[in-house]
Amino acid sequence: MSAVQPIEWKDGVLRLLDQRLLPTREEWIECRDAAQTAAAITDMVVRGAPAIGVTAGFGMALSARIHAAGGGTGADLARRMEADRAVIRQARPTAVNLAWAVDRLAARLESLAGMSAEAAAAAIEAEAAAMFEEDVAANRALGAAGAEVVPDGARILTHCNAGALATAGYGTALGVVRAAAEAGKKVAVIADETRPFLQGARLTAWELQRDGIPVTLIADVAAASLLRAGDVDLVVVGADRIAANGDVANKVGTYPVAVLAREHGVPFYVAAPTSTVDLELPDGAAIPIEERGAEEVLTCFGTPIAPEGISVRNPAFDVTPHELVAGIATEEGLCRPPYSESLRAAVGRAKEKRGG
Ligand code: MRU
Repeated sequence: MSAVQPIEWKDGVLRLLDQRLLPTREEWIECRDAAQTAAAITDMVVRGAPAIGVTAGFGMALSARIHAAGGGTGADLARRMEADRAVIRQARPTAVNLAWAVDRLAARLESLAGMSAEAAAAAIEAEAAAMFEEDVAANRALGAAGAEVVPDGARILTHCNAGALATAGYGTALGVVRAAAEAGKKVAVIADETRPFLQGARLTAWELQRDGIPVTLIADVAAASLLRAGDVDLVVVGADRIAANGDVANKVGTYPVAVLAREHGVPFYVAAPTSTVDLELPDGAAIPIEERGAEEVLTCFGTPIAPEGISVRNPAFDVTPHELVAGIATEEGLCRPPYSESLRAAVGRAKEKRGG
């Protein structure tokens, strides 16, 4: 299955598929420094928690390349990269994969303090490339873990885009769908359009159609009646940050789907790599929720759809309480309640495999 890969790194240039233009135009932009990379994340050229993390890693590699030219040691390089590191780290607040990736590379840099700046920069680039590969491998593994709960013939409702486009490749929620299909199961996806940015309509529909996986697009507000009618067998969504107790931040509109699924006796699953789990936060109340600009709500493809001057709230994410989550598929297996134990164990195993 040849899922799209939206991030490319070649000869010190980061290329990103511009997801703001899909599905009508397939264009790539190039980033050559940390500021361009951070802007691409903020402006949602690239989006989706794991994709943001991998992009941030390459942003750090770009910064390292540029600042290595100043010579000196790895410690000097780390000092010169501090401002870039801060710019990348704050590009978007909710997906913890961003901070996770930047901090992982900063820790790596610290361990290279005694090397030459040039050698340290090369090591940072190699680590960023490894993070790309690890993300694809994690998605394949969590996809296989999640596919175990997908019955043959399943109709799977998803929200937003947690697909190949939201990762280095293959996808999380859509990784579960792909793994189930690869295992020979007949699956069909019902995609919420996902107002206001329309990731479901523009991105999930595009990438599944491209792979020949059956997909039906619905308006977000139609999910309730489909669930009531018995037209959905399970829900699978991605995550931007999962707190230690299993509360899940994901695209705004996920929480209502979880409540509806519970009301209609349909299991609600989450698929995410362990890099999305934030054990520092006890519960979802502590997760920072990004508020984006009013124009996303006030307009549709540049056309005004509301009266000028109207007051707008645009929280980009919501939090689904862990009580509504039947399971969380990670690359370390399917975590079940109590999540305070199963998630900690999964994160521990993943860390151990990376060597602590
Ligand atoms: O605002 P976005 O498009 O970055 O939000 C993306 C989501 O909410 C995804 O569901 C989440 O990041 C998981 S992506 C594998």
